[in-house]
Amino acid sequence: MNPLVPPPFIDIQEVAHAFAQTDSHTSLQVLTKTSLSIRKGELISFIGPSGCGKSTLLNVMGGLLKPQAGKVLLEQHEITSPSPKRIAYVFQENALFPWNTVLENITVGLTFQNIPKNEHLERATKALSDVGLLDFAHHYPDEISGGMKQRAALARALSLESDIILMDEPFAALDEQTRMVLGEDLSILLSKTQKTIVLVTHSLGEAVFLSDRVAVFSARPGTIKEIIEVQEDHPRKSDFVTSEKFNGLRNQLYSLLHEEVKKTLSSEATLKN
Ligand SMILES: Nc1ncnc2c1ncn2[C@@H]1O[C@H](COP(=O)(O)OP(=O)(O)O)[C@@H](O)[C@H]1O
Ligand SMILES: [Mg+2]
Repeated sequence: MNPLVPPPFIDIQEVAHAFAQTDSHTSLQVLTKTSLSIRKGELISFIGPSGCGKSTLLNVMGGLLKPQAGKVLLEQHEITSPSPKRIAYVFQENALFPWNTVLENITVGLTFQNIPKNEHLERATKALSDVGLLDFAHHYPDEISGGMKQRAALARALSLESDIILMDEPFAALDEQTRMVLGEDLSILLSKTQKTIVLVTHSLGEAVFLSDRVAVFSARPGTIKEIIEVQEDHPRKSDFVTSEKFNGLRNQLYSLLHEEVKKTLSSEATLKN
């Protein structure tokens, strides 16, 4: 290693994984030799055909899954188990407890992580205010919209004050307008914090709008096929979406993905025949 070049913040080194198939004695190779360096404070998106291993890689990064080969280093230490104080997770299903209010959902999370009780209210209030949900602190999940639930899930992750957030299709269940507004809010939030975010998304527009870099995955067995840089300051303005630059990047992503999705569909057809 060159001593003049600082080591990467997160270093994914040749991660490969296969899952045993329950209905046969075969295994399914999901990821092959995937390597990526992630910079501190950036937002990087993972985009790729369904089933190419994006969530699997995120689970390895979160310490939830040990890969069959390779490893992920965080500041030069291998990630081997979950550590929510450093790495928080936001899933597609927001997994709020329906019997707790929004505020309680956050403080329950803090209790799980053994955060001292006297810090709970302050942390929860700050996180709710950061996502614009303070007025709904005492509502139950059933009483708020889908977009608000995802904000609450994000607030729960923020309240842990981890410096890394892994988001697995957090906006997938929402309608396009809500996603757009949440995306703009996230961009504003990011510009205020130094958090490092890894976002799995299916939306090309969302990837371009939010990311500093977009990693495009190949068809399964997945690996990173190409990385696109989006050089645009945060917070991104809504007029970025109508710019030539935005559309150029989106089209570039579309053609990269199109090839991979076609490969996925033709291999599925072969499997069925
Ligand atoms: N725990 C598991 N056991 C067996 N197969 C799995 C498991 N988790 C994921 N898979 C399979 O691995 C492939 C990749 O899954 P995943 O990483 O979730 O893909 P993506 O998030 O890119 O859509 C899929 O075909 C999925 O069915
Ligand atoms: Mg997934």
